[in-house]
Amino acid sequence: MNPRLAAVAALALAACSRDDSAERRARLGPNPSLAQMMQVADAQAGARRFGQCAACHSIAAGGADRNGPNLHGVYGAPIAQNRPRFGYTDALQAQRGVWDDRRLDAWLADPRGDVPGTTMSFAGIHDPLARADLIAYLKTQR
Ligand code: HEC
Repeated sequence: MNPRLAAVAALALAACSRDDSAERRARLGPNPSLAQMMQVADAQAGARRFGQCAACHSIAAGGADRNGPNLHGVYGAPIAQNRPRFGYTDALQAQRGVWDDRRLDAWLADPRGDVPGTTMSFAGIHDPLARADLIAYLKTQR
């Protein structure tokens, strides 16, 4: 890269240091896999996105259940078992497996499409990189 271009790129990066998702998207190219997205996922960006979950979910260790269960330690936990005293729906309890990248990605994209009958009334997150950032954040909270 010529020096002038490099300087412009550096400036652009500095200006976007809080949200470099455009640059990360460019690095990923078209149709990245979930694994590729997880490699560039940014837990700090995910922490900011968690604002859209916080009305219903606390995430600090020992936090109270709200409309939704506390999410501390939910990454890697068996589905609908992380908070034994929370009233999970039968629909969610009928799910097998643990909350790994793949399950969380499908859930966060479209909760009610993924698990018909769930009471998580959340429209879902269309942007796969935004979901990856959130999953990276959930991973840090355990
Ligand atoms: C309007 C309230 C609401 C919002 C907003 C919401 N949730 Fe939920 N969430 C719930 C409820 C209610 C459940 C339990 C659903 C059930 O039992 O079917 C749940 C369940 C979950 C679970 C499964 C927990 C477990 O212990 O197995 C995860 C993971 C989760 N939510 C993540 C999120 C994330 C991440 C966001 C933000 C992107 C979010 N939720 C936004 C209400 C909400």
